[in-house]
Amino acid sequence: MPEDSAPGIHDLSIATTEFVLTHETLAAHQGIDPAKYHRGIGQVAMSVPAADEDIVTMGAAAAAPVIARHGADRIRTVVFATESSVDQAKAAGVHVHSLLGLSSATRVVELKQACYGGTAALQFALGLVHRDPAEQVLVIAGDVSKYELGSHGEATQGAAAVALLISADPALVRVENPSGLFTADIMDFWRPNYLSTALVSKSESVAAYLQAVEGTWKDYTERGGRPLSEFGAFCYHQPFTKMAYKAHRHLLDHCGHDSAESTLAAAIGNTTAYNAELGNSYTASLYLGLAALLDAPEDLTGQAIGFLSYGSGCVAEFFAGTVVRGYRAHLRSDAHREAIGRRREIDYATYRELHEFAFPVDGGDHPVLRETTGPYRLAGLSGHKRVYEPR
Ligand code: HMG
Repeated sequence: MPEDSAPGIHDLSIATTEFVLTHETLAAHQGIDPAKYHRGIGQVAMSVPAADEDIVTMGAAAAAPVIARHGADRIRTVVFATESSVDQAKAAGVHVHSLLGLSSATRVVELKQACYGGTAALQFALGLVHRDPAEQVLVIAGDVSKYELGSHGEATQGAAAVALLISADPALVRVENPSGLFTADIMDFWRPNYLSTALVSKSESVAAYLQAVEGTWKDYTERGGRPLSEFGAFCYHQPFTKMAYKAHRHLLDHCGHDSAESTLAAAIGNTTAYNAELGNSYTASLYLGLAALLDAPEDLTGQAIGFLSYGSGCVAEFFAGTVVRGYRAHLRSDAHREAIGRRREIDYATYRELHEFAFPVDGGDHPVLRETTGPYRLAGLSGHKRVYEPR
């Protein structure tokens, strides 16, 4: 599809949690050198949800400014991608639909395939818009990443949501064909229904991600994708920001290109600012990389961006997008920095308390302490039903 007629991302808005735990605090509790986190994995802090926050409150907070700017008249579909589902049957997006007051003439659905879900939602949305260019699709990708206290994964927790408005005539990024696809049945990271924390095979997960980079690139080039040299920047899924560097170095080496630090920094450097502060937000992570890239001062007009979406288990996709002329006028850079900067820092004991918080499962009335200063909150659980309200 020619660059100037492809559908794509018309608006992009991010939201995160009330609280933040720094890696300095985590390292001090563990009695280790914080450089392991700052330099070793490229993380400085992680978002921690208040007890009255979850994927619904973050998703609604991310989407509300999009609706405020564009209205909802053309939105007939809401797709919520997550692996931190709050119900086994009802889509989290239905709660968001209600909080945002969207029309009843809307289809709402939830998608899951680990961190890849956000890209699946984007691709499905592009298909719908292609079928009827008058329609827009609201894609929300949001997660709370949670590992067991003291586990290897603990330092890579985080939480955030991103809302993308997909339209036929996008103001930010046009998404191109083809895509390179890769699926392999592996157990590198997973979360059984009975656990609230994810399990990970430490060494396998990084190796599986790198194998998927090769697999998607092979399929992408076989389908006539752009050569590597045409891309101005690369957005990778970032479970921790150093993973983007590992992945891009792997791709460059695989293709026989120079992979010097300066080459990596030029391709990846502007995509990591938000993820380094928020931690792993699973489905949202790749698109937080895009938000950081677009919000950076460099003008990307007309440039091709490479996207590598990876979801453990595993499914991955490589695709390209081109940045639309005039995109800077549509950015939300100040609001994004405000969402990250306004979080309240917590100490280790408070983090631990929040980590261990779980609702009783007796079906009684369980109101939640009012903590969030965000626009929406989880008021509590009543009769096994989650009750949400504007704050
Ligand atoms: P670990 O045991 O905490 O750390 O595991 P490590 O010992 O492997 O060290 C990490 C890096 O820090 C190393 O660098 C060390 O050398 C360095 P590398 O060899 O990687 O270049 N280091 C230091 N650097 C400077 N100063 C120091 C220092 N000490 C050590 N003092 C691991 C790290 C990421 C494996 C762990 O945190 C983990 O298991 N995380 C969860 C799994 C994960 O994120 N996997 C990534 C790929 S899978 C994926 O992306 C999918 C996912 O998002 C889920 C989904 O799809 O839904 C996870």
